[in-house]
Amino acid sequence: MSKSALITGITGQDGSYLAELLLEKGYTVHGLVRRSSTFSTERIDHIYRDPHEKTQMYLHYGDLTDGQALTNLTLDVEPDEIYNLGAQSHVRVSFDQPVYTLQTVGVGALNVLEAARLLNKRKPVRVYQASSSEMFGDVIETPQKETTPFRPQSPYACAKVYAFHQTINYRESYDLFACNGILFNHESERRGETFVTRKITRAAGRIKMGLQKKLYLGNLDAKRDWGYAKDYVKAMWLILQQEQPEDFVIATGETQTVRSFLELVFQQLDLDYRDYVEIDPRYFRPAEVELLLGDPSKAKEKLGWTAETDLRELARIMTEHDLELARREAHAENYVTSK
Ligand code: NAP
Ligand code: GDD
Repeated sequence: MSKSALITGITGQDGSYLAELLLEKGYTVHGLVRRSSTFSTERIDHIYRDPHEKTQMYLHYGDLTDGQALTNLTLDVEPDEIYNLGAQSHVRVSFDQPVYTLQTVGVGALNVLEAARLLNKRKPVRVYQASSSEMFGDVIETPQKETTPFRPQSPYACAKVYAFHQTINYRESYDLFACNGILFNHESERRGETFVTRKITRAAGRIKMGLQKKLYLGNLDAKRDWGYAKDYVKAMWLILQQEQPEDFVIATGETQTVRSFLELVFQQLDLDYRDYVEIDPRYFRPAEVELLLGDPSKAKEKLGWTAETDLRELARIMTEHDLELARREAHAENYVTSK
C-alpha cells in the first residue's frame, strides 16, 4: 500500500518541492490551502492540474489557526506522515504582525500536534515540524548544531522556538513520532520575492532587461548559510524515515554575506551591483541576526544527507530563471506598447 502525507504550506516554496518529491515516491499527497480571493496555487498547478499525469494529489481548504477543522481533516484523510510547513515565514514582517505570526507559527504547530496526537490513537502517524536556524538568533556558538542553545531575535523566531519545544513535548509525553528539522536558509527559483536572494535575482534580471533602475536593500553584511530548497526537502523526508524520532540541523556548512550573493548574481549578468544598489533603512530590522552557519554532520552521519548545490550554482539557477522571467516581461511590455 502506498503511503499518504498531509502537507501544510503546500502552496509555499518548500511545500511545492516536497509535494513533487512525495508524488515521485508514490505517495498520495493531501495539501492544506488557505482560501484567498485570488488563486495561491501557482507553485503546484503543474502537478495538480496536468490531466495527463495520474497525480494522487488532493487539496483541502483550511488554516493552521483553525484547530478544529485541521483535526477533522487529519482524522478524515488519516495520513501516515504530516509535514507542518505552513507559516507566516517572513522575519521582518513578524515585527509588524507579532500576534498573527505567533498564531500561525506557534499555535498552528500546536494544532497540528494535537490533530496528530488524536490520530495516533487510531493509527501511527509521523510529524515533521519546520523548525528554523533563525531560532539560534544572536548565536552563542559557531557553527550551530543540534545542541546549540537558542537566542531568538524576532517574533518569528520566538514562535518557532515554542513550536520546537512543543514538538519535543508531544514526542516525550505521548510517544508521538514527531521531529524537528532545523533548516538553515534555503532558496530557489520558487522563493518568495521579498526574501533577499530572490529580491536580488528578480531585480538583477529586470535591471539587465531595462525594466528597473535601482534595487533597495537593507543590511548587506548579514551572513547566511544558504542552500537549495530542492535538496532540503529530501532531508525532511529522510528525517521521517528514521527508526527513532530525532531532531536534525540541515545546512551546507558554508556562510556568505548578502553582499557576496549580490556580487555573484550581478557578475553573472556582467553588471556591477554598486551601480544599482541603494541602502534603504526600511529594510533594517529592529534586531538583526548577523551570522548563521550550520553544522550538518549529524544529518550526514545518520541520514546520509549532504547539500548537493553550492551558492554559486544556486545563484546561477536563480539568476537564469529570473532573467528569463524578465525577458518575458519585457516582450509583453513591448507587445502592449506596439499595439
Ligand atoms: P513560504 O514560501 O513562505 O510558504 C509558507 C506557506 O505557509 C504557504 O503555503 C502559505 O500559504 C502557508 N501559510 C501561511 N499562513 C498560513 C495559515 N495561517 N494557515 C495555513 N497555511 C498558511 O515558506 P517556505 O520558505 O516554503 O518555508 C516552509 C516552512 O519552513 C515555513 O514554516 C518556514 O517558516 C520554515 N523555514 C523556512 C526556511 C527557508 O529558508 N525557506 C528555513 C527554515 C525554516 P499562502 O500561499 O496562502 O501564503
Ligand atoms: N528580506 C530582506 N529584504 N532581507 C534583507 C534585505 C531586504 O531588502 N536587505 C538585507 N537583508 C538581509 C536581512 O536583514 C537578513 O539578514 C538577510 O538579508 C536574509 O533575509 P531574508 O532573506 O528575509 O531571510 P531570513 O534569514 O530573515 O529568514 C529566512 O530564513 C530563515 C532561516 O534562517 C526565512 O525563510 C525564514 O522563514 C527562515 O526561518
